[in-house]
Amino acid sequence: MKIAVAKGDGIGPEIMEAVLSIFTANKISLEYEYVDMGKWVFDKGFSNGMTPEAKQTIEAHGILFKGPMETPKGKGVKSVNVTARKTWNTYANKRVFQTLHGVNTVFSKAGIIIDITVVRENIEDTYGGIEHMLTHDVALSRRFITRPGSLQVIRYAFEMAKKKNARRITCGHKANIMKITDGLFLECFYEVAKDYPELKADDIIVDDLCMKLVTRPDTFDVIVLTNLQGDIVSDLCAGLVGGLGFAPSANIGDHICIFEAVHGTAPDIAGKNIANPTALLLSGLAMLRHIGLMENAAIIENALLFTLESGVHTGDFGDKSIPPVNTTGFAEAVISNFGKQPSAGAKPILPNMTRTPTHFKLEKNPMLVSAEMSEEKIIGVDMFIESDEQPLQVAEECEQHAGQKFKLISISNRGTQVWPTGSVYTNLVNQYNARFESLHGDTLAQQDIIDLYITLSRNFKVCSFELLNMWGDKKAYSLAQGQ
Ligand code: NAI
Repeated sequence: MKIAVAKGDGIGPEIMEAVLSIFTANKISLEYEYVDMGKWVFDKGFSNGMTPEAKQTIEAHGILFKGPMETPKGKGVKSVNVTARKTWNTYANKRVFQTLHGVNTVFSKAGIIIDITVVRENIEDTYGGIEHMLTHDVALSRRFITRPGSLQVIRYAFEMAKKKNARRITCGHKANIMKITDGLFLECFYEVAKDYPELKADDIIVDDLCMKLVTRPDTFDVIVLTNLQGDIVSDLCAGLVGGLGFAPSANIGDHICIFEAVHGTAPDIAGKNIANPTALLLSGLAMLRHIGLMENAAIIENALLFTLESGVHTGDFGDKSIPPVNTTGFAEAVISNFGKQPSAGAKPILPNMTRTPTHFKLEKNPMLVSAEMSEEKIIGVDMFIESDEQPLQVAEECEQHAGQKFKLISISNRGTQVWPTGSVYTNLVNQYNARFESLHGDTLAQQDIIDLYITLSRNFKVCSFELLNMWGDKKAYSLAQGQ
């Protein structure tokens, strides 16, 4: 079987070489096709950080094993890591955080065993990177949370939790504030939970989750979160088990999967052959299990655990009284420990499974539609307008343009209502949201909205607008704070 390998930037080539030397020593029947991705590919003028040949190879093999990659700063280019995850729809980012004997932490010293799997949604949220300056003072980021996208990742998390015999599956969210976006994610979580009655499913607000993770990490098992919250929470979990050097990650899609460490290119230690290859090795082990090489994965993992337990360490962790080994030395130690088993929790050697290939050639882009349409009508619009006038003045000007079809309902600034009621203590920025609704709750046409846009633009720069939709008797939009 062939897989695509990208060595990455910074410490990437060093840790990749170390991991592949372990695979080779274990006679793993894999062929590697190296692909060009990363900073130097950006520098050669490929704006997405990968060559067309790299894209073709990855799509042909369906598996990418990659080292960390640097995004050039200040060149306006997007991260190749994020591009890869999004382009190939690897919608679930699975990150496993386990107590490793030999890696001392405050928890391991207290005898608290951690085994947490974070499943992070990997495509949507603010990672869409759709951002605009609306005025010179006001930046806007669009945050997409979709029903099909949420269902994909949540269903994956439940399936994985079932296979793992998880004690608990928890949805982390901020639906108390982001009622529509995180509210949708949470709704999808409980929708999927109905199909898994054997699993204990619950939810927790993300700030409370962070506090409980650092006080009682052993009470959590599988946690599923939206993209940005998942990113932050998973780095927190990495800290619980000893740091980024021990945090592996698998980006799972229906056709293409990407295996990589959570950490970055570590420019401060690059080129010195001192980086810790454990996180990339653990990511590689997840890849071996994914493609059915269970026996190799178990032998290597047991050797790794034995190595850690016996005190061998790189400079970033471990007993300071024992001199550290370098990256190559660490790989050699793992190889020399093939066949040995750690005293604490050896991984069982499962028989080779026949792999069902998940990868096939697609003819066209899959369109994901999961919700049935309900009766839908436009009943108003939020007009985002630039102005440095006071709310009353803005309201008077807006009302002049409301015409026969609209009434001005409210004006808010940074999401806080400032008209018809508000407080002079609310600080303002030079962008308001003027909310117009149809005069008698009538259904509006898109042309009505455009007519209002044109007339308002005589007084204001209209930066953007959003339709106010009703689905049946449900408002498909949020209220302003104080409205
Ligand atoms: P980083 O993870 O590269 O480094 C943070 C700290 O952890 C540094 O002190 C580093 O020396 C240490 N560290 C990381 N991995 C280590 C290892 N294997 N062994 C020993 N020490 C290790 O994060 P930073 O500095 O924020 O990012 C550097 C670059 O990496 C940036 O260009 C960033 O965009 C990129 N990056 C790439 C990722 C990827 O390819 N998936 C993920 C995160 C960052």
